[in-house]
Amino acid sequence: MIRSAQQLLLAAVVAALALGCAPKLQTDVSRMPVDDEGRQPLRIGRVVKKRQIAPVMSVAHADWLTRPDRDAEEQPDRVVRELGIAPGSTVADLGAGVGYFTWRLAQAVGDQGKVVAVDIQPGMLERLEQNLAERDIHNVEMVLGTEDDPRLPNDQVDLVLLVDVYHELQQPELTMEHVRRSLKPGGRVVFIEYRKEDPSIPIQPLHKMTVREVRNELEPMGFEFVELKSFLPTQHIIIFRASR
Ligand SMILES: C[S@@+](CC[C@H](N)C(=O)[O-])C[C@H]1O[C@@H](n2cnc3c(N)ncnc32)[C@H](O)[C@@H]1O
Repeated sequence: MIRSAQQLLLAAVVAALALGCAPKLQTDVSRMPVDDEGRQPLRIGRVVKKRQIAPVMSVAHADWLTRPDRDAEEQPDRVVRELGIAPGSTVADLGAGVGYFTWRLAQAVGDQGKVVAVDIQPGMLERLEQNLAERDIHNVEMVLGTEDDPRLPNDQVDLVLLVDVYHELQQPELTMEHVRRSLKPGGRVVFIEYRKEDPSIPIQPLHKMTVREVRNELEPMGFEFVELKSFLPTQHIIIFRASR
């Protein structure tokens, strides 16, 4: 017997679940309000190992990802070269944005290789598609991921690159578990983050990470630290392999 509104609601949810027609929550982060820097303050909330997770960068500010001085500061061609990616590799660009690293990775893996470019915002993937078409690039597979699943294939990826992304993963543990499973034996995961150790770097602390923070989070998730590359003026490149 149903006696209250709460019981009625509960009964409706149970019935919907039983019929397999419960509404699915769809997160389209591109529609959420943003602050002056294109970040979505409403997404702030979770704290992982004392680090507050940053909001996701909005499509409205995607032009920042191809700003004219970015090449000089972030040296993307050198970064890709230094990663020593073998032609024929499968590489994932996780949080690809408009593809600033994707089209360089596509060149590094060559015609026999593949780049899987993942983002959670359809608007970013639309701009990425346009950028690839303009460059006549055809070895990139675009994937619309979710906050907890990048939808990468299991055991097939040689290297996963996250540039300025890890600090804004809303579900880092779940996302990285999928990343770990996606790797071939010996496969690497590479994080590029602004150096929080250096207060003179003009980026808000929420959007920077120390090497210690990255290691403290990643090692218990099943990754072992391999190498730190420090040739960039404002960012560190931190490389891991799966440890289990
Ligand atoms: C600051 S931008 C960096 C884009 C690109 N890596 C670059 O360096 O130009 C961060 C990107 O990560 C994406 N992102 C955030 N959380 C994600 C997740 N859980 N899975 C995939 N992409 C995500 C955002 O939508 C955004 O496009």
